[in-house]
Amino acid sequence: MAAVGLVLALGLIAWGVQYFRVSDPYILQVLALPGDRDRGALIFQMNCAVCHGFEAAGEVGPDLHGVSERKSKVNLIRQVTSGQTPPMPQFQPKAKDMADLLEYLESL
Ligand code: HEC
Repeated sequence: MAAVGLVLALGLIAWGVQYFRVSDPYILQVLALPGDRDRGALIFQMNCAVCHGFEAAGEVGPDLHGVSERKSKVNLIRQVTSGQTPPMPQFQPKAKDMADLLEYLESL
């Protein structure tokens, strides 16, 4: 019985590590860069404000205030770059631009 429990526990740990491990080199690169909030705000106003509003208060897309309480950094990067939530388009910002954007999103 104990052996079964141990196997189960190890299995769960292995699954957890797999689940939380970020292997995407782009995401790792973004996370390693310091973000500039003001530059991020400009990038936001040029690319995202049409849908999320100039102050990110929401238009077609949702209000983004407090979004970093709902989504982790990794999930925010994925939200912007995956294109998996249409009508939001897929963006492919340079890592530095994404780091700045992330800093801005986290300041909301
Ligand atoms: C064409 C309109 C459009 C554009 C442009 C757009 N978005 Fe979105 N965005 C959406 C919509 C619609 C959703 C809701 C998608 C869903 O959850 O299914 C969304 C969701 C989000 C979310 C998740 C919100 C939450 O509460 O979980 C984030 C973060 C976000 N957008 C950031 C951005 C950023 C940053 C940009 C610019 C790089 C951007 N969006 C550009 C329409 C847009």
